[in-house]
Amino acid sequence: MDLELLKARHSVRQYTTMKIPQEVRDQLDAFVREINEVSGLSIQIIYDDPECFNTRIAHYGRFENANNYIAIVGEKAADLDEKGGYYGEKVVLKAQKLGLNTCWAAMGKGRGKEKIGPGKEEVIVISIGYGRTQGSARRSKKPEKVSNLNPESPEWFRNGVEAALLAPTAINQQRFYLELDGKTVKAKIPKIGIWLKVDLGIVKCHFEIGAEGTDFIWA
Ligand SMILES: Cc1cc2nc3c(=O)[nH]c(=O)nc-3n(C[C@H](O)[C@H](O)[C@H](O)COP(=O)(O)O)c2cc1C
Repeated sequence: MDLELLKARHSVRQYTTMKIPQEVRDQLDAFVREINEVSGLSIQIIYDDPECFNTRIAHYGRFENANNYIAIVGEKAADLDEKGGYYGEKVVLKAQKLGLNTCWAAMGKGRGKEKIGPGKEEVIVISIGYGRTQGSARRSKKPEKVSNLNPESPEWFRNGVEAALLAPTAINQQRFYLELDGKTVKAKIPKIGIWLKVDLGIVKCHFEIGAEGTDFIWA
């Protein structure tokens, strides 16, 4: 069921002008409150603010009618980017479930209406709205390229890796490596590169959905 949701999600950058109805906002906001509680993050959804995204988006001209966005904000910490990716993707998938579309967007920070506050930082924003289309599937690396998956690997590991390959990553880079050793999974990223830690959090979120029901542990 949730795997279907992962398969249905694609980045959507062009939206219709349809406003997000109040009852949908209420559900999203309630979900974000829950996520903030468990994670300690200060994720916020800003609705009906075309100005902000328009100026930010100056460099990324492909967005249209991006009038709402999710701001991923949290206390400055070494693991903030990964955490932002992990919990941000949970909000993305909730939005998908509610019939909305999204796109992670790496751009200028703190120029919108979101509140950042002392000691905190904005990791990234994610546009959210009703897409003109549902987006489309893109190229993907092979499971063997991003993991030590082999014919002897357990089914849950294969499912986890496949779910990870459905994760959005910056410029579709998919620069992660999942290594199974017994019940332990190590998720690795290269030392140098852009947005890799955010990608890593997103990938872990997807892997967990794919491997659901197993008692694996993250290394
Ligand atoms: C951390 C991160 C940053 C991204 N930044 C941008 C961006 O600035 N502009 C953009 O158009 N897409 C951006 N994307 C979307 C990716 O290009 C997209 O997720 C990737 O190509 C895979 O496509 P999919 O999301 O449809 O699976 C970003 C994605 C991630 C995870």
